Amino acid sequence: MTELNKIALKIISKGKGILASDESNGTMTKRLEAVKKISTPETRLAFREILFTSEMMRECIGGVILYDETINQIASSGQKIPELITGIGSIPGIKVDTGAKVLSNSHEETITEGLDGLRERLKKYYELGARFTKWRGVYKISNKYPSQLAIHSNAHALARYAALAQECAMVPIVEPEVLMDGEHNADVCLQKTSDVIKKCFDELIIHKVDLTGIILKPNMILSGNDSNYKISKEEVSAKTLECLKNSVPKEVPGIAFLSGGQSDIEATENLNIINKNNNTNFIMTYSYGRALQQAALRTWSKDMKNIKETQNTFNHRAKMCSLAAEGKWFRNLENN
Ligand code: G3H
Repeated sequence: MTELNKIALKIISKGKGILASDESNGTMTKRLEAVKKISTPETRLAFREILFTSEMMRECIGGVILYDETINQIASSGQKIPELITGIGSIPGIKVDTGAKVLSNSHEETITEGLDGLRERLKKYYELGARFTKWRGVYKISNKYPSQLAIHSNAHALARYAALAQECAMVPIVEPEVLMDGEHNADVCLQKTSDVIKKCFDELIIHKVDLTGIILKPNMILSGNDSNYKISKEEVSAKTLECLKNSVPKEVPGIAFLSGGQSDIEATENLNIINKNNNTNFIMTYSYGRALQQAALRTWSKDMKNIKETQNTFNHRAKMCSLAAEGKWFRNLENN
């Protein structure tokens, strides 16, 4: 077992998943302003520190993805944020892409940037304590998208990033996110997500990435937000498993889904059924941003001093996701 494989397994095993608190300052500002809070380095840290010091972190969160600002911040206890995370038995990670930019010759699509100078940034993040990394490629669905150009160029960038992360002794989270926006049905999502993931692995293999030392972070297979054809949770699970079984090489240790705009309960319930029906060798867990944090953010926004109540809200969601990662979640637990 390689060191990278050990780190990957430590992050996602035994009902643990990933807390994706790596919103860029722009995205975090939108989230804070949506609950009528001002976004400053201090308020962003205050909210995140409340989550990082919650009781359920130790039991449910194997890894925390940080943003550049946060990995350099100091907690109120005086600890550096990566030390705080390591201290509770979790692993600090870092988002290293610099965002999705307009793709030349297909202007309605994006290419994720951040490769220039990446090796040097990775070394710096390793010194700060990061042991895994994240890079997100973004794809939209419509009649003509994602184009071959977007599929190919994002897969290539993801593979170059993953190879560099491993070279610097960090586990790359490879995140090709096919967005939920659109009127498409779930079979279209299945087809396009499969094309995207297969291309990513073609490139990862060409770039000699050690597949036992990565975590794949995909979307679940859902119908588009504006689709008239909604599918049941059982169908979400069946189509998601079909997609991953057919597109992900067996060496990959695990899959940590993004929530992608699903409600927190929906993201929990879908993960639970996927795990109940999991007929693959892959660990299937969560790497949720909104589905882990949104409820806690609402609680906190009502009274920023009420740390206990905010932590209770986060603890509950983390516990529900952890149960779902083992197929042990039940809807009636949500009323507690
Ligand atoms: O890259 C996306 C985030 O890490 C996950 O966020 O669960 O809100 O989609 P989400």
